[in-house]
Amino acid sequence: MRSIINEKNLSNKKILLRLDLNVPLEKNKITDTTRIDKILPTLNFLIKEKAKIIILSHVGRPKGKIVKELSLEPIRVELEKKLSKKIKLISENIKEIKNKNFFNNYNEEILILENIRFYSEEEENDNKFAEHLSCLGDIYINDAFSCSHRAHASIREMPKFLPSFSGLQLDLEVNALTKITSKITRPITCIIGGSKISTKINVIKNLITKFDNIIIVGGMANNFIEFFGNNIGISIKEKNCNQIVKEIIALSEKEKCKLIYPDDVVVSKNYNGSPKNKELNEILFDEMILDIGPKTIEKITNIIDNSKTILWNGPAGYFENPNFANGSIQIAKKIIENNKVNKIFSVAGGGDTVSLLNKLNLVSNFNFVSTAGGAFLEYLEGKNLPGIKALNLNDRTK
Ligand code: 3PG
Repeated sequence: MRSIINEKNLSNKKILLRLDLNVPLEKNKITDTTRIDKILPTLNFLIKEKAKIIILSHVGRPKGKIVKELSLEPIRVELEKKLSKKIKLISENIKEIKNKNFFNNYNEEILILENIRFYSEEEENDNKFAEHLSCLGDIYINDAFSCSHRAHASIREMPKFLPSFSGLQLDLEVNALTKITSKITRPITCIIGGSKISTKINVIKNLITKFDNIIIVGGMANNFIEFFGNNIGISIKEKNCNQIVKEIIALSEKEKCKLIYPDDVVVSKNYNGSPKNKELNEILFDEMILDIGPKTIEKITNIIDNSKTILWNGPAGYFENPNFANGSIQIAKKIIENNKVNKIFSVAGGGDTVSLLNKLNLVSNFNFVSTAGGAFLEYLEGKNLPGIKALNLNDRTK
């Protein structure tokens, strides 16, 4: 993998820069800018080198359709503010943009192409789509470590067509995670939560062999709670997961990895409702689980006290509403309490976890905070991420 930081002669080169600007948006407002802040060094480096920058990114999961609420416009505005530079959003159909007139029409230093996931070809990893995109630039940079677990056109295919490099943030994340995974001390506890259940549920099986405790909270825990015969009302869950849940439980017993899921929960009738503590067998058909309960918090904090390494990915509840943030706050507080006296090594990852820690002003109290969620977990699994593999293959062909 070659880093762009070592490249000279970038002046006037058109750089296709894949970023992860998948920031949380609420009514077109960015609620956490961490992912934008983290890629500013790469943009400033390219600006200093007088390169022409074409940003590629997705936000959300529009599934190949144009979804107005998932436009990159609010992100363009934020970037303009942070860089004090004019940035243009290109909303026309990428497939109709031709190489020759691209920067002639828009005589600027930085352009952003509209949400790359508005095109189904992106997630289909369409080779022709990637080839067409490549015609728009001279060099490709992947500075989206947090997307590098996705075999998508702008991640996996583009390095086949252009000289390709890693960006500064990707270098930082890979170096830090490599160091961390080689230095890890036992007992190791992994806390997995959040709402992106489908991304994470399959990962757990592979993590079981590496960890002493796996604590399942957030949306994914609902699948486990239901599996053990409890009604989970209208809570979010992943469909058709009983088989994988069964396999996870069997494997954890075989590998002697303790699997912990909630003993009690906090429910409400909707996301804005008031909180009610409930035992697992008390949840009503019109209620949803939105946080872990006090017994579960106690169990988790005891496990943290008895761990030497903690990896945390995904909040324990719907922390956006303070009524359901207590579980996540107590977990964060306990990790920090132990971290401050050097009793544990702590790593947190994932967009929502970073937002939560930012809200609580606690980011600097962790040993390392990764912007990546799914990619972070798959990296811990020991997987060769498609985006990283593509950069390395490109390297070898030179
Ligand atoms: C993330 O938020 O982890 C990345 O942007 C990837 O998003 P995805 O899970 O929708 O692929």
